[in-house]
Amino acid sequence: MKIISHRGASGYAPENTLKAFRLAVEMGAEDFEFDVHQTKDGILVVHHDFDLKHTALRKERIADLTWEELKKINVAKHYKADAAFQHVPRLEEVIDVIGGAAWLNFEVKNDKNVYPGIEDKVLAFLRSKPGLFEKSVVSSFDHGTLKRFRERSPELKLAYLGHGLSTVLLLPALRKAKAVGAVNFHIALRIAFGLNVSRIKKAGFRVCVYTVNTKKDALRMRHIGVDGIFTNYPDIQGKWELKG
Ligand code: G3P
Ligand code: CA
Repeated sequence: MKIISHRGASGYAPENTLKAFRLAVEMGAEDFEFDVHQTKDGILVVHHDFDLKHTALRKERIADLTWEELKKINVAKHYKADAAFQHVPRLEEVIDVIGGAAWLNFEVKNDKNVYPGIEDKVLAFLRSKPGLFEKSVVSSFDHGTLKRFRERSPELKLAYLGHGLSTVLLLPALRKAKAVGAVNFHIALRIAFGLNVSRIKKAGFRVCVYTVNTKKDALRMRHIGVDGIFTNYPDIQGKWELKG
């Protein structure tokens, strides 16, 4: 089972910052997930939300800021244990830190196509570094975004992510995931039960579950045959012998 560092070692450092990614690398993380957005002037950056309310306690949206403006804002402000300045990193900066990883999940946040053209930018980025395209998987809660990625690249590995996915909506979601040629299917912990996981696997997908932060849940995920868990504590792999 893959132990996927979720937003870096975000249980120990401000999420999606270079500090969190460096720490995850130090902890031995080999698999990563992070969220991709685009600034007003077209720079790909890594941050969870579309705005800065949660991280910087400010209301601006990333789409409305240039990189020059964004890089001056402290997104560790919310993180009481260590609020020292951290900027929203450019995707390039994050890959400089974690590019040696085995597997990378670019979660492209593009609800209602708020970042027109982001698919072309991400694809160009993936192709700009040797080996990066092959070890990367792109996911998105926005199905239109997944479709545009598929139209542009038949080879790109895609992962289906369903907004508010429930057990009753699983079958139509599996159909949509098949139609777009996804290889992975990522589900929330609240619907990660044996029956759902075996249905997804039977349909031919690898299943990864977010976000798994306790030993009890992690062991249960391994028991029901999950292929990977997203966790804010990438060091759990050493503590609980979850790999394999
Ligand atoms: O990609 C898995 C998971 O990160 C999706 O949810 O809200 O944490 O981006 P969220
Ligand atoms: Ca995410």
